[in-house]
Amino acid sequence: MSQPTIESILQEKRLFQPNPEFSQHAHIKSLDEYQQIYEKAKADPQAFWAELAETELDWFQKWDTVLDWQPPFAKWFVNGKINISHNCLDRHLTTWRKNKAALIWEGEPGDSRTLTYAQLHREVCQMANVFKQLGVQKGDRIGIYMPMIPEAAIAMLACARIGAAHTVIFGGFSAEALKDRLVDAQAKLVVTADGGFRKDTIVPLKPQVDKAIADNGAPSVENVLVVQRTKQQVNMEPGRDHWWHDLQAGASANCPPEPMDSEDMLFILYTSGTTGKPKGVVHTTGGYNLYSHITLKWAFDLQETDVYWCTADVGWITGHSYIVYGPLSNGATTLMYEGAPRASNPGCFWDVIEKHGVTIFYTAPTAIRAFIKMGEHHPKARNLASLRLLGTVGEPINPEAWMWYYRIIGGERCPIVDTWWQTETGGFMITPLPGATATKPGSATLPFPGILADIVDLDGNPVPHNEGGYLVVRHPWPGMMRTVYGDPDRFRRTYWEHIAPKDGQYLYFAGDGARCDEDGYFWVMGRVDDVVNVSGHRLGTMEVESALVSHPAVAEAAVVGKPDDLKGEDIVAFVTLEGNQKPSEELASALKQHVVKEIGAIARPGEIRFTDSLPKTRSGKIMRRLLRNLASGQELAGDTSTLEDRTVLDKLRGGA
Ligand code: WT7
Repeated sequence: MSQPTIESILQEKRLFQPNPEFSQHAHIKSLDEYQQIYEKAKADPQAFWAELAETELDWFQKWDTVLDWQPPFAKWFVNGKINISHNCLDRHLTTWRKNKAALIWEGEPGDSRTLTYAQLHREVCQMANVFKQLGVQKGDRIGIYMPMIPEAAIAMLACARIGAAHTVIFGGFSAEALKDRLVDAQAKLVVTADGGFRKDTIVPLKPQVDKAIADNGAPSVENVLVVQRTKQQVNMEPGRDHWWHDLQAGASANCPPEPMDSEDMLFILYTSGTTGKPKGVVHTTGGYNLYSHITLKWAFDLQETDVYWCTADVGWITGHSYIVYGPLSNGATTLMYEGAPRASNPGCFWDVIEKHGVTIFYTAPTAIRAFIKMGEHHPKARNLASLRLLGTVGEPINPEAWMWYYRIIGGERCPIVDTWWQTETGGFMITPLPGATATKPGSATLPFPGILADIVDLDGNPVPHNEGGYLVVRHPWPGMMRTVYGDPDRFRRTYWEHIAPKDGQYLYFAGDGARCDEDGYFWVMGRVDDVVNVSGHRLGTMEVESALVSHPAVAEAAVVGKPDDLKGEDIVAFVTLEGNQKPSEELASALKQHVVKEIGAIARPGEIRFTDSLPKTRSGKIMRRLLRNLASGQELAGDTSTLEDRTVLDKLRGGA
């Protein structure tokens, strides 16, 4: 008997064909072409990846084996020698791209800076020499705790250049979270700034570093390098703390890239939201370079003239793969923005697009829902005609938000690529290729070539179309994580043992439920821990949320289960309303009725709780774990250190 799978209830029928004009100029021009590449890659994944590695990247020495697969441990391009900073910088300097804008940066107060490939190369080389001077050697780890300023990217590339692994810690993390990560990675150097500008205030960073390493809290840290950004007064410990600009002034700009083994560690990135010991996701050099490069090139159809903007923070995988490494490896122009929409300028994103002529814009559904709430008069007051492509990532996007993004931001002209992937996968796994794939609002569509994705039950058996199940990957890919830093056993347990290996084949599973429709389109239903089991029917909470958000009064919704004697679990919906709406009993029952209408009686929320805001992590993920506790009247358990706004919890407790 196999386990019951997740019931899928969302039906979305709209279909958007690629624009023929767009397809004509795209890297991948038709569904036929995609299918040919996909089938070729499926028949011989190693030949497929080897050919791309050869044509897309520079290698100092060619590999002798494409893939060494000792499940669940993969090595790609074995014995190949490569340096990702060379591929992101040096190789462009011998072409016309030498003086092309590599990085356009916009600070929140309105200052901005553009670095050409030649200029970026120069600063990276200088910092690589500074790191060496501070005793950093190949194989060491460096912590990076920075605001969104060019120096963050420069520090990452300088690490890569000398073969030190970076671990970027999101600037919104507390001193405690920072300390845990520095300790786990045994970082020798921390690169930080006095602070950064965000939402019209100064976010202090150096004081947090001081706290993290005080009283020998992170004994591996020998030096701290500090960028002066906000110019507020900070404590500088003689001998330990150094100003970036002081050391840069005396540093040579000559620093040849270290030839790295393809499997040398490039970075550790700690996953957010976990309790207990942080989980360090390890990515290595050659495979990651190829994967972040080719996924961005094809899925975002990168062209030479694009100005590409990803709104993520460099502290997340999206910032690694799709602000820094993917775009620069492709020789593209990548834009970085320090700030966030704020009361003094809710439309600042649209200003940035207009000012810099952004052509590709990549953001998250949570941001899109916030834009909807702020009102379409903000984007409408700007000229967004430069945009030609939009992207989304981070959680399933509800079709209402998708349609708003398409109409209001994309002017019904820009394809939307909904990219499904994870910190662990290194790059896009399921995504439209905009010149080839017709899109359906809410679906990440089809797997990237070389990605053998499937939906199975707990025994590893494929489930029929339109039935929910566990989203798995059947064959290793170059961008996959290699291990959990210092804990290979945890890697095996977390990702490779939930679904039993079948016929000797290991299935990668990282926690998402999904269904595949009759066209082979994937519909990600969210984490499997975000399911509610009502009367033996396991429902994806996202689908109920999506139904709620499609009601005109609702801005955002988060749905959790609460234990129920009769049904097993009952649905509790936390709902924020559009600005002009007031909570009332009538509205609560109208919303319940609306869900019944959209999905069916099985999904009727037992309870609607109106609230001003939802508890979110700083990366914008709703912390449903906390809402589950609240809904079932339990004490709030576990880690709340990743909460963006702590007062939300008190309001929810008091006001519920
Ligand atoms: C989880 C990974 C990958 C960068 C951002 C998040 C969810 C991500 C989508 C999407 C539906 C998505 C999944 C996944 N997710 N993108 N397009 N559609 N769900 O990285 O923190 O590693 O989270 O985010 O649940 O497992 P992450």
